[in-house]
Amino acid sequence: MFTTALSLLAFVPLAFGAIIDVQVGAEGKLLYEPEAVFAQPGDQVVFHFHPKNHTVTESSFADPCGRKEGGHQSGFQPVAADHSGALPTYTIDVTNTDPVWVYCAQAARTPNSHCGAGMVFAINCGPDGAPNSFTNFKSSALEVGNRLKAEASATAAPAPSTTAAYGDLTIPAEPTPELVTRTITLEAATWTTVYSSYPGSPAATPASEEGRVHKVIVGGDKGLVFDPPSIQALPRDQIVFEFHQKNHTVTQSSFDDPCRPFNVAGNPGFDSGFLPSDGTSFPTFTFNVTDTAPVWAYCRQRNPSSHCGAGMVFAVNANDDSPRSFAAFQQVAQTLNGTSVSSTADTNAGQGSGAIGIGASTGQMVFTALSMGLVLAAWL
Ligand SMILES: *[C@@H]1O[C@H](CO)[C@@H](O)[C@H](O)[C@H]1NC(C)=O
Ligand SMILES: *[C@@H]1O[C@H](CO)[C@@H](O)[C@H](O)[C@H]1NC(C)=O
Ligand SMILES: *[C@@H]1O[C@H](CO)[C@@H](O)[C@H](O)[C@H]1NC(C)=O
Ligand SMILES: *[C@@H]1O[C@H](CO)[C@@H](O)[C@H](O)[C@H]1NC(C)=O
Repeated sequence: MFTTALSLLAFVPLAFGAIIDVQVGAEGKLLYEPEAVFAQPGDQVVFHFHPKNHTVTESSFADPCGRKEGGHQSGFQPVAADHSGALPTYTIDVTNTDPVWVYCAQAARTPNSHCGAGMVFAINCGPDGAPNSFTNFKSSALEVGNRLKAEASATAAPAPSTTAAYGDLTIPAEPTPELVTRTITLEAATWTTVYSSYPGSPAATPASEEGRVHKVIVGGDKGLVFDPPSIQALPRDQIVFEFHQKNHTVTQSSFDDPCRPFNVAGNPGFDSGFLPSDGTSFPTFTFNVTDTAPVWAYCRQRNPSSHCGAGMVFAVNANDDSPRSFAAFQQVAQTLNGTSVSSTADTNAGQGSGAIGIGASTGQMVFTALSMGLVLAAWL
């Protein structure tokens, strides 16, 4: 009799409880939607995991981003960006009206913590204005995030600046690269890319399978310039340099040595060679973009005076919010090789050719880092 009553109790609420659906990370947002629900014993809260890689992990009001021992835990639920069909789910059976506090454990205890970005959820929290309201819970999660970010920037070693190879100029430090492995799905193709990324770099996802074509006019009516002088481009894009009046080159260099050919570990950068135009036909040179790292280039014409020193430089994917912006690069060129500087020094002209020793166009794209780095935190 006693047993029957018990099983009846357990059974009735399940049979008649409500199902409350919660979307986890819909549209890439670091959010549970809705963020708070009220449920009766016997109700079920069903979490639907959208693309990326989230969890439903129980915490406590006092420690919003810390796992509660023995609490609810969905584990990581990775979902591909192109996932179709039913989403994975995790269900919490509500057994009483006590509050249940939940967070996403992705990137826990790091500056990219989803919880620290406010990805928290509650069942039966206190009403607005109460000490244990959802608003108070979420603000304390955001405080955790701010603290993690502050700690990370305090411990990050200040990057040392360097001195240019000549000209006694201080060069802002290169950002620390981070090697990222990422599977990219685009249209009908899927491939894995390994690349260096750096703060502020564009995502490594090509705009399309074929990439875009960017046209840059070299010289021409505007004088000693690349037009446009600085562009943002994605892997698989092509940059077509069209050479107008006079006699220019586009030659890869580096941020700290803008007016001499790139040569890192014996790896010559690209160099178009001199492409004089007669003003009626315009020779072209194409550079294929394979990475999101900044690429720096210049014109190596020095007759009758240094084009590079006059500011004829070019950049792909410069981070204009950093000390290594395009404007800063141009400034380095003008300072090192400008008219105030004797141009009788050596003629260390570039003889490199072809593309940088990286790249590929299909299937497995492996990008070797030549310089820079970035953080593609977005995938998490
Ligand atoms: C999901 O995230 C966890 C924790 O960061 C990680 O260990 C796991 O490899 C990720 N899974 C996928 C498929 O990205
Ligand atoms: C272009 O410039 C280079 C280097 O100054 C020079 O060697 C070459 O003869 C020039 N070509 C023409 C057609 O002016
Ligand atoms: C650049 O890409 C185009 C189109 O994919 C290809 O035809 C060309 O050979 C590539 N050039 C280099 C230097 O890799
Ligand atoms: C810039 O100056 C350096 C040092 O004098 C020199 O080696 C280099 O050829 C110059 N480059 C240009 C394009 O003027």
